[in-house]
Formats: sequence, C-alpha cells, structure tokens
Amino acid sequence: MCGIVAYVGPRDSADLIMAGLKRLEYRGYDSAGIAILDREGRLDTRKRAGKLGALAEELVQHPIGDGGTGLGHTRWATHGGPTDRNAHPHLSEDGRLAVIHNGIIENFAELKAELVADGVVFRSETDTEVAAHLLARAYRRSGDLTEAFRDVVRRLRGAFTLLAVHQDEPGVVVGARRNSPLVIGLGEGENFLGSDVAAFVEHTKRAVAVGQDEIVTIRPDSVEITDFSGGHVDGDEYEVAWDAKAAEKGGWPWFMTKEIHEEPDALANTLLGRTRDGLVVLSDLGDRLSDEVLAGIERIVLVAAGTASYAAEVARYAIEAWARVPVAVELAHEFQFREPLLDERTLVISISQSGETMDTLVAVQHARAHGARTLSVCNTQGATIPRESDGVVYTHAGPEVAVASTKAFVSQIAALYLVGLHLGRIRGALDDATHRALVDDLLAAPEKLRAVIQDSWTRIETLAHWMADTHSVLFLGRHVGFPIALEGALKLKELAYIHAEGFAAGELKHGPIALVDHGQVVFVVVPSPRHSAALHAKVVSNIQEIRARGARVIAIAEQGDAAVIPFADELIPLPLTGPWTEPLLAVAPLQIFALELANAKGLDVDQPRNLAKSVTVE
Ligand code: F6R
Repeated sequence: MCGIVAYVGPRDSADLIMAGLKRLEYRGYDSAGIAILDREGRLDTRKRAGKLGALAEELVQHPIGDGGTGLGHTRWATHGGPTDRNAHPHLSEDGRLAVIHNGIIENFAELKAELVADGVVFRSETDTEVAAHLLARAYRRSGDLTEAFRDVVRRLRGAFTLLAVHQDEPGVVVGARRNSPLVIGLGEGENFLGSDVAAFVEHTKRAVAVGQDEIVTIRPDSVEITDFSGGHVDGDEYEVAWDAKAAEKGGWPWFMTKEIHEEPDALANTLLGRTRDGLVVLSDLGDRLSDEVLAGIERIVLVAAGTASYAAEVARYAIEAWARVPVAVELAHEFQFREPLLDERTLVISISQSGETMDTLVAVQHARAHGARTLSVCNTQGATIPRESDGVVYTHAGPEVAVASTKAFVSQIAALYLVGLHLGRIRGALDDATHRALVDDLLAAPEKLRAVIQDSWTRIETLAHWMADTHSVLFLGRHVGFPIALEGALKLKELAYIHAEGFAAGELKHGPIALVDHGQVVFVVVPSPRHSAALHAKVVSNIQEIRARGARVIAIAEQGDAAVIPFADELIPLPLTGPWTEPLLAVAPLQIFALELANAKGLDVDQPRNLAKSVTVE
C-alpha cells in the first residue's frame, strides 16, 4: 500500500526511480510522483493522478532535471482523493524539502490545526503534508535533516514510512518507519530505499530491513541507522533470494497469468528440504517455539486477512486433525478488539504473503503483548511480521506482483500443512505411517496442480467469455472445499467486480438458497467420494437442490465422479489426490475463471480498482 523508492548515487535518479516505481506499482496505483535534486542543486517535482503511465507521460511533456538524489511514490489514497494535488511528494512552504509517506498519521488533524494557526497554508488534503511542514520547521532549527526527523517522528501517531530530501543536503535521503515497511538496498557508491526489495533488486541484492521506530540516513557511500532517540543501530544485512527477472512479466499477458502458472513451483519450493526420512521436520523455529514448547501448546489461533485467512481456514481442518489441538481462525482486524484469551500455551500463527499487512501485524503484536507464542507464515524475507514473531516458516512462492493473491495462497496452505504435520509428530498425535502418506500426497501435488492448470485453462476461458454479462455467481463447498468456495468468490469480486458469494453447501437451505433462480451460475467444489462417501453424497444432494431451482452448475470434481456427471452443466475434472490436497488443486480453476472473466470484461487483471497489494493501513 503505497510504494516508496529513493536513490542516492552517481546515476540519473529520475529514470532509476521511475523503474523502481514500476516494480512497486502493485502497492498502489491511483497517483504517482517523484522529486529530484538536480545537478544545479534545485529541488524539482512532478506528480500526476492516475497510474504510473500518467506520470511517465508528464515527464515526457515536462522533463525533470538530472540529479543523483531523488525519491518517488506510487499512492493508494487514504486522506484526500487521488488527485494531482494530493499525489506525493509534498513540499514544505519554501519548496526546499520534499516528503513521501506510506501509512496514516492519526493525529494529523491536531497537527494541522497547530500549523494553520501558525500561518501555514496547506496545498493538499493529505495527512502527509503536515510532516513536510513540521520537518521544514525542525530543519530550520537544526540545519540537519536526520535531526529534524528525530524531532518530528516523536510527534507523529499512527503508522508511517516517511522519506524526505532537502535542497540544502544534496546526496542525502532520510527515512523513518513505524509499523510500515522500509528496506535499504546497499550498492557500490550508491544506496537505495524501498518499501520492498522490488524497488532496487535489479541494482543490488544486498538488503537491510529498517526496524521498528528507526531512522535511516543514506548517502552514496554510507548508511546510518539510529533509533528515534539517536542511538546507533546495527542493521542485519541479508541477500535477496530472488532476482529481478522473477518479478517481471516475462511474456505473459498479466502477472496473474504468470503467477497461476508458477503455483506448482511455489508449492514444490515451499515443501522442499522440509522433510527428513519422509517426515516433516521444522528445525529452526527458535527457542520460544522449541519442540518442548510446541508439545505443550493447548490452543492455536490462526490470524490473517483476505485470501490468507482462507488458507488459514483450509489449514484449520488439517492442523486440528493431525495435531489434535483446538484451532480457531480469526480475521486479524477483529482479533485485538475481541480481547481474546491468550497465554503462553496459546500459539498464534499469522499468515501473510507480504509480511506487512498492518491488521495482521497488529494482531501479532497484541498476541505477543499478552504472552502468546507467535509463528509467522510469510512469503517475504525480512518483512516486519516475521521479524516481530517468535519464529517463521517462509513460503517460497517467489515475488507475487498481481494484486490478487494466487500462488501465495497454495504455498500458505502447504506451509501450514507442514506446521500441522510437525506439530502432529512432536505431540505424538500422528503415527509415522500416516504422516509419511500425507507427505507423499503433498509432494505429489505440484505435478497434479500443473496438469489441472494446463488442462483446464482453455475450457475455463471459453466459459468465462460466454459469461461476460453475468451479474452474480455463487460458490459452494463443504469441509476444506468451503474456504475454497470463499476464495473463488473473493477472486471474482476483486477482479471482475461481480457480485459473488461463497457458502458452506450445508448452509444453503438455511437462507441463501433463496438467491437461486433460473440461470443462476453456481460453482460447486465436490469432495472425492473415495475419501468420504457421506460428505460426497451431501454435496451431490446440494447440487440436486439447486438444480431443481434452475441453477446452472459448474462442478469441480474428481475425474470420473459418476454421481456428479449427470447433474453438472459443466464439469472441471481434477486428478485423483488425497483429501487434504484437493483444495490445492480445486482453487486453480476458480482463479483462472476470475482472471478470464475480468479479461472478457476488458478489466485490468493485475491492478483491480480500489485495491492495492500489501495493505499497510488498519
Ligand atoms: C486477495 C488478496 C488479499 C490478501 C490480504 C492479505 O486476492 O490478495 O485478500 O490476501 O490483503 O495480504 P497478506 O497475505 O500480504 O497479508
């Protein structure tokens, strides 16, 4: 949510910053802007409402000067609509200082009132502009940008990554962060800042995550990190595990198309190296999550938002079944306000692709503050949530750029399954033979998923194009198929802007069946009859109930499921697989359907309206 990039070094920073913004555009795309300290020592800015292309066009019409110091921002609006004026950077009154910001300054109204009373005339409706004016005033007092930051951040409440340049300090960018991400890229004779490593990974793979309540000052040949009181901080350097190519479209029409095709590898990479002698072993979870501690856990709470919460819902069934410990799933944003019962025998597992989702971060912080053990399932190295948790299991899905999560979802389920199997083993709840069979089934899933994606794509594309005028689609499932139905509905809402609802199939008769009318399209995720004849029979009955009321049924079912064939208007077959890997295979056709329906409607698949990846506000 809002992409931030900054550069100091010998190169022309405008081109470099625009390239960084292009890579970060998925974080927000309602307006964008850059500020450059040009070679004559002037601070110049360009900003435009709309996607990055509008800013690029503006730079062609009105080129900005060359200079080795600059910053750029791509916005997801919080305070003030997506207009030219509200786009970042924001300038101080004298135009000598430029600020970009990600997050929300919660006390901006009172700070603004104070500044207005002091004669400041605001030029935008943003909360960010108060920071520009406060920093300029603090700078006038100290003549040092880092010192000015120290002064101002103490006065700000809320979440912020704040970056600034000052005309009187060429070759310097200062940044500060609280509850919002900021990463340093270490170069040779040049340095970078970014909301995430995508901002600079094509230039350097050496990164340092800026910690909570820290200030960083970058110059071409130095990087200095301090806490908000000025105390020195040693940053932990790490190497970015993927290269710039991984975050490029590489010939695919959309990032989402590419990322669905990458799901089998994401799944395989998440499982890779995590088994020993056919059993799952997670050996590096840290002291607070030792085998002894985990053996004594009495309750597990999975916290997440959106798609990640549906991965949690799938895993809840598995973890409870394998580790024989009660598991609850909580939407991260509801967690703290419910005042949940937490103690050191509660394990709170957060699930987040970005590792920066503010709702999830706050839930983790709440859990820790109340004594619970915290484990993060995350796809982003060095992100805030894993750093603030007792331990982490990384999903190795690679960078996910499309706003709609796809490959992260399957890898989150896989990582949570690993946690469930690990817990089942150390708690003595799962015998080795069953454990090995589950691992075998998991390891075989990537190739089956590859086949599903390859075999079903064209068929689903045709279906989606026929249905371009559809106004409402329902999704049904039971057991682990239920969260898949929810995920199918979410994908369709966010990508195709169609009313879509997911239901537990058994719930239908308690109300939602009233929605079913002649021609209503209903996707049904059908469990295999080989695993539970009773469950399968119930879903088949549900299909008959909706068919009797005129529904058009699209069934996602195991190949050769004779009980479903007569009742399905369309059948998307899945290869034979175990009960726990069914959801990994069943979700792909639903993702493809949402993508192709958005395509059929001529919509932007990768950047749906009103959304942004990595939601760093509450
Ligand atoms: C939907 C989607 C979102 C995210 C949610 C959590 O396609 O991508 O619902 O799943 O915002 O994001 P992370 O996993 O980064 O915490």
